[in-house]
Amino acid sequence: MTRRIDLLVYNAGQVCTVPSVGGGPQRGQMLGTLGLVENGAVAIERGRIVEVSATAELRMRYDAAREINVQGGAVVPGFVDPHTHLVWVGDRAAEFEMRIAGASYMEIMKAGGGINRTVQQVRAAPVEQLVAETRARLDRMLRLGTTTVEIKTGYGLDTPNEIKQLDAIYRLAADHPMTIVSTFMGAHAVPPEYQGRADDYINLIVDEMIPSVVEFAAAHDQPTPFVDVFCEPGAFDAAQSRRVLEAGRGAGMPLKIHADEFAGIGGTRLAVEMGAVSADHLVATPAEDIAALGGSGTAAVALPATPFGLGHTDFTPARKIIEAGGILALATDCNPGTAWCESMPFVMALACRYLRLTPAEALAAATLNAAYAVGLGERIGSLEPGKQADMLVLETPDYRHLAYRFGGNLVRSIIKAGRVVE
Ligand code: NIG
Ligand code: FE
Repeated sequence: MTRRIDLLVYNAGQVCTVPSVGGGPQRGQMLGTLGLVENGAVAIERGRIVEVSATAELRMRYDAAREINVQGGAVVPGFVDPHTHLVWVGDRAAEFEMRIAGASYMEIMKAGGGINRTVQQVRAAPVEQLVAETRARLDRMLRLGTTTVEIKTGYGLDTPNEIKQLDAIYRLAADHPMTIVSTFMGAHAVPPEYQGRADDYINLIVDEMIPSVVEFAAAHDQPTPFVDVFCEPGAFDAAQSRRVLEAGRGAGMPLKIHADEFAGIGGTRLAVEMGAVSADHLVATPAEDIAALGGSGTAAVALPATPFGLGHTDFTPARKIIEAGGILALATDCNPGTAWCESMPFVMALACRYLRLTPAEALAAATLNAAYAVGLGERIGSLEPGKQADMLVLETPDYRHLAYRFGGNLVRSIIKAGRVVE
């Protein structure tokens, strides 16, 4: 008896299923578990994966309404990009030139440039412009294989403009093929009108912004957004970060943090203590904090395009995080200041070279573990029965080419929830 299904993808040179380990992420030394099926096929029904096995077997077992012969290409899970600042307008190419001439990112920020330059532009833009400029970026990311993306606010920095960014995210989520996860990041920088009064700005976040954001999400039938804070000298210290995260948690928001990008001031410890879903950047992370992370459920999100974008040579100590037993994930950090990078494969290429990940580890960090870093690990990120059929067909029979080659695009086609979208 053959079973009727919607779609059979077959003749894959290899299918990398990137399976969950013990029903969870690929933690510590388990990172890089590929679940490789040679000459494989994937059976899909109602947008979900039914079975992954050898082509010969599945062609016998299933009668598919549509069949796609991928002619030897590799099949991998769609990429999950768990950290972006995608809703902006304009650019900061002038700051890029200043940095090449020797100015540091934090110097530019202190002089009124940096995040607050983009804040000015976002405040002045109508929501339609935010949607249009962000949509172009989303379309390019999809072409490069990203099927789920997290997007932060944080260029509004007052209640109406933070809500305007969230509104843009929801408008995009309504009609873009990608799954979009939202994060409120009012605590991205101290806005100009609060210069020297960071604690007063934190009060505004706690008393006004968080309640408004949670209400706006509920009114739009959207899941409660994550809350995130930039814990860094020049942005917010650990005590201020704690206030933001506590208020968010109190309002039902899951937690994220920007920690140790330039200096280790306790952000990672705080994330672990508070049960954050992820702690991101982690370049200057102290050894005790790496140990704490290793024993925790908090995913460590490395963003190698950021030091690369800044021309720095210090990267996330990923091997130490893996040795400690941590959940390592990768993301682009796509933003107009430090890393206008729309490509998860490029991030994987950087991670292999500068974080010393193997291509298999980079793939798992960009798919399954990245899904856990946005709280969606049970639904997406791997090619296992019951999971949403988000997958990529590559131009090459060998998944390692994703990280080995760089600067191009090896994604031939994209299947999102069982539908061929590109
Ligand atoms: O993650 N570090 C803080 N935020 C971003 C940069 C945002 C910007 O410069 O506009 C980051 O690198
Ligand atoms: Fe960031």
